[in-house]
Amino acid sequence: MKTALITGTTRGIGKVFAEKFAGMGNNLLLVSRNEEKLKRQQYDLQSRYHVAVKYIACELTQLNAVDLIFERLSNWQVSVDFLVNNAGFNECGLFTNTDMEQEIKMIDLHIRFVTQLTKRILPMMKKNNYGRIVNVGSTGSFIPSPSDAG
Ligand SMILES: NC(=O)c1ccc[n+]([C@@H]2O[C@H](COP(=O)([O-])OP(=O)(O)OC[C@H]3O[C@@H](n4cnc5c(N)ncnc54)[C@H](OP(=O)(O)O)[C@@H]3O)[C@@H](O)[C@H]2O)c1
Repeated sequence: MKTALITGTTRGIGKVFAEKFAGMGNNLLLVSRNEEKLKRQQYDLQSRYHVAVKYIACELTQLNAVDLIFERLSNWQVSVDFLVNNAGFNECGLFTNTDMEQEIKMIDLHIRFVTQLTKRILPMMKKNNYGRIVNVGSTGSFIPSPSDAG
């Protein structure tokens, strides 16, 4: 059985990815912040699809997020076959009005964390001679849109 690590699974697009990967018979590693939701999602997916579901409740903008994830993977002795970099959010508004702290968190989540996680997981995939990575983006990146340059 293969294992999919998916970030941002407690709602939206990531939740659908989790559903689809479980439906195709893969074990799951769910990563988001809300532990209650993750716990419920774990129970729900395990009972409906009979796959092993583990979760990591983690704020992914924190600097040591990737280390925390790897500590768990190593404790569980799990390796990752599919990586879905999905967790993300949007800070809209005029650049002069938007919240700097939120913008830095967005850069941390969308760029730094994704780069660090992918860099750490790829050698694992190379060693196993198998791996697939999905980076969720937005067609919005290609459309100039006032007050939504994020
Ligand atoms: N929806 C759209 O129209 C659209 C369009 C283009 C691109 N996208 C991109 O697609 C991806 C998913 O979008 P969505 O609309 O499905 O988002 P969403 O419904 O807001 O869900 C975001 C998910 O990411 C998790 N998350 C957010 N910030 C996090 C953090 N700092 N640390 C850990 N987990 C975090 C949230 O879980 P917790 O709150 O439990 O942490 C949640 O599960 C995002 O990257 C988004 O930028 C979406």
